[in-house]
Amino acid sequence: MKKHLNYIGGKWVPAAAEDGTFEDTNPSDTRELIGRFPESAAEDVDSAVKAARAAYASWRLTPPPKRGDIILKAGFLLQERKEELSRLMTREMGKILKEARGDVQEAVDMALYISGEGRRLFGKTTTSELKNKAVMSIRMPVGVCGLITPWNFPVAIPSWKAFPALICGNTLVFKPSEDSPACAEKFVEILAEAGLPPGVINLVHGSTEAGAALVRHADVNVISFTGSSQVGREVAEQCGRRLKRCSLELGGKNAQIVMEDADIELALEGALWGAFGTTGQRCTATSRIFIQKRIYEKFRREFVRRAQKIKIGSGLKPSVEMGPLVNGAQLRRVHHYVETAVSEGARLECGGARAKGTGLSHGYFYQPTVFTHVQPKMTLFREEAFGPVVCLMSVKNLDEAIHLTNDSCYGLSSSIYTKDVNRAMRAIRDIEAGITYVNGPTIGAEVHMPFGGVKNTGNGHREAGDSGLEIFSEWKSVYIDYSGRLQKAQIDTE
Ligand code: UN1
Repeated sequence: MKKHLNYIGGKWVPAAAEDGTFEDTNPSDTRELIGRFPESAAEDVDSAVKAARAAYASWRLTPPPKRGDIILKAGFLLQERKEELSRLMTREMGKILKEARGDVQEAVDMALYISGEGRRLFGKTTTSELKNKAVMSIRMPVGVCGLITPWNFPVAIPSWKAFPALICGNTLVFKPSEDSPACAEKFVEILAEAGLPPGVINLVHGSTEAGAALVRHADVNVISFTGSSQVGREVAEQCGRRLKRCSLELGGKNAQIVMEDADIELALEGALWGAFGTTGQRCTATSRIFIQKRIYEKFRREFVRRAQKIKIGSGLKPSVEMGPLVNGAQLRRVHHYVETAVSEGARLECGGARAKGTGLSHGYFYQPTVFTHVQPKMTLFREEAFGPVVCLMSVKNLDEAIHLTNDSCYGLSSSIYTKDVNRAMRAIRDIEAGITYVNGPTIGAEVHMPFGGVKNTGNGHREAGDSGLEIFSEWKSVYIDYSGRLQKAQIDTE
C-alpha cells in the first residue's frame, strides 16, 4: 500500500515520529482502508512553517498574474481529474458521486475565478488634500497562512482558502481534516504539478495536536478555519492572545420558510435537498422548516413520505440519493440529538435510527429523520446536529417565521419560498443571516459571492468572492509627495 506523507518544502516526507499514523477508512464500508496517514506533531508543523517562511521571500515578489497562471493550470488539472478525484472523495468521506463532482467543480470554479484576480487585485487611487501629492491604496500579502479545513467539502473548502491566499502572495501550511487526508493530498499534488514553487504550499496531516500547533505558532500570520463553533472559539482565543488574524467559518441552524402562496412542489424539492443533501453534513444544511399554517399539513405529509423514500447506500451507486455519515463519532452524535429530541417531547415522524438493509451493515448509514411538535427551547431547535435531521413547524405568518428563523445563536444561510415580492423583500431585509435564498434551498452558494454568516457562525469575515481577499491581504496606504517641499496634512490648510 502507498505510503502517505506530509509535503514540506517541495518534498514528500514522513512525520518526525515515523511510527505515528492514523487510518482513513471508507464510511460506507469501514472494511475498506483508504490509507494510513502521518500523525504529525508540533515539530512537523514547525518544519512546514519554516519552509513556508523561506518560500515567502520570493513568492511575495512573483507578479500576481504569474501566480494566477499557476492557479489556472491547477484549475485545469482539477477539471481533467474531476472523475478520479470525485470517486476518491465518495470513497473517503461518503457523499454521493454527483455531489462529489460538484465539490471538485467548486474548486475548478474558484481556480478560474481567482486566477483572473491576478490581473485585478484592485486598490484605489484617490485625491489628496494637498497639491502635488498622489495617494493610493495597495494590497500586500500577510505572510504565512495556516489553513485548517473540514472533511465535508474536502476539495472545495481548501480551494476557497488556498487560491485567494496564494493570489495575494502568501505561502501556506495546510492541515486538512483527518477524515479526508487523501483528497487533501491530491489537491496538493495538483498544485505542485501546476508549478507552485517548493515551500509555497505545505501539507501537514494529523489531528488536534497538529492543528493546535499551527494556531499557536509564532511565525504564522493568519489562521483560516472552517469547523465547529466550539473549536472555532478555541482557535479565536489562541489567536487573540497572539493578536493573530483569524477567519472562522462555523456552524449553522439554517431555516427554510414556506409561505402559503409558494409553489409547494418547488418548496418540497428544495427542502428535501437542503435537509438531506450531503446527508445533512453541510454548515448550510436546512435543519428547521417553518411552514405557514394553511399548507402545513399537506407539506408535512408529503415531506415525510418523500423523506422515507430516499435511497440510502454507497455513493458510488448511481441510484443512491444519500450516503453515510462520515464516522462513528458523528453517527453517535446525530443519534444522541435524536434521543434528546424524543426525550424533550418532540414527535418523531420518520427515521431516528441507523439505516439497515443489504450493503448497509458496514457503514455509518442513518435514516432521514423528521421531527414535528418542536418548541424553540428544545435542543433540536437550537443546536446543530450535522446530520440528516430536520424539524417542521407551523407558523401563523411571515413575522412569526422570521422571528423563529432569527431565534438562533447562528446566522449562516436562510431561505424563503414565496411568490409575493413584498414578503421576499421583507425576508431579505429582516432575516439575520449571511445568505438568504428566495425560492431556493439553503445550500448551494457560488464561488464569486461572499460566503459566511453572522452571530456564532463566524467572526465577521466572508470567504469567496472578492471579500475572500480581505482575509489574506493587508491594505497599505501610499502617499507620494512630488512637491519638493514639506507639506503638512491637516495643518497647511491655505
Ligand atoms: C460548508 O458546509 O462548510 O453552499 C460549506 C453550500 C456549499 C458550501 C458548504 N457550497 O452549501
